[in-house]
Amino acid sequence: MTLNELAKEVAHQFERTYGRPPLWTAAAPGRVNVIGEHTDYNNGFVLPMAIERYTVIAAAPSNKASKCIELRSSASETPARIDLGQALKPAPKGMWFNYPLGVIAGFTSQGANLEGFQALIHSTVPVGGGLSSSAALEVSTATLLEAITGRQLAPVAKALLCQKAEHDYAGMPCGIMDQFISVMGKKDHLLLLDCRSRKPELVPISDPAVALLIVNTNVKHELTGGEYAKRRAQCEQAAKILGVPSLRDADVESLERARGNMDDIAYRRARHVIGEIERTLHAAEGVRASNWPSVGRLMYASHTSLRDDYEVSCAELDISVSIAQALGLEDGVFGCRMTGGGFGGCTVALVEAKKVSTISERIAKEYEERTKIKPSLFVSRPAAGASLVNV
Ligand code: GLA
Repeated sequence: MTLNELAKEVAHQFERTYGRPPLWTAAAPGRVNVIGEHTDYNNGFVLPMAIERYTVIAAAPSNKASKCIELRSSASETPARIDLGQALKPAPKGMWFNYPLGVIAGFTSQGANLEGFQALIHSTVPVGGGLSSSAALEVSTATLLEAITGRQLAPVAKALLCQKAEHDYAGMPCGIMDQFISVMGKKDHLLLLDCRSRKPELVPISDPAVALLIVNTNVKHELTGGEYAKRRAQCEQAAKILGVPSLRDADVESLERARGNMDDIAYRRARHVIGEIERTLHAAEGVRASNWPSVGRLMYASHTSLRDDYEVSCAELDISVSIAQALGLEDGVFGCRMTGGGFGGCTVALVEAKKVSTISERIAKEYEERTKIKPSLFVSRPAAGASLVNV
């Protein structure tokens, strides 16, 4: 289904729910990170792309003058009613509407004048799949609010407002990757983002001979749990021991020299981050040169490091990667790794486009045999970032 068809459907759903057509329809994509995992909050590099899976939000002003925002999601029975006449604060942890609520709070705290409206949200980004369903929800809300208020934010400011919503309202201390790519994604491009300077660089990937195959293990990940925050703290501790502002400023030699001063966990976390930043830069070069075997090797190395040093993989992710790896170059697989925060969610494989259906079938079959879980697989081209959609 194209974005336009999806947006049309959400507009119809809005009309069925509220009895009139929407005035605005905004959409923001999820993302898959090709490489550069757990590097964003260490000021390093990431190399994600936006995917052809979107959160769409259709909205119209309230029928009568009102300060109430009503949000409904096709994924939840519970609508949200937000009273703009009251000070905004987070709803209890785990409520789905904390993400849009945090974005609304971000706009109002910047002085935006919001009136009541009604909205309907529908998403094709799987929730808890490591494909940034939360960033897609935040960024689609921000795109809608730009249209409603006439207040256009600069792309970096928009991404940062959404990140703050996730920190303050969802309690997840995420880095900047997901919101940046959902705002700045470009068709047929990966985004090499320097998370220190926040400078994005587009890396074209339009070789029809390769495809990115996303395998959802259908093991849900839950990042608001403590493990993500723990990893961040361990990285900060390692940077402190190394005497640098962030692990971006460390290198393998300084890490080896300081090894005796740190515990094994801090050492391995730092080794992952330092290696991953380097792998990401090399992978971007590999993509530019269409050197797919080299990009693939870096993806496998990334996975091994995330599994053994960073310890954010899980059995199902490892199984998905090992099946792809066993198929190997001969059967059209260049590389594969877990993607996103980890502990479940998806793997991403770089494969020969002409072999993608055989590869998908074989991975799906063997994964199910070994885990007793049915995976979901799909291919995505790099998509454009958030926008309003004319329906
Ligand atoms: C989550 C976070 C991102 C990033 C990844 C790991 O998706 O939201 O900021 O840290 O995990 O690379």
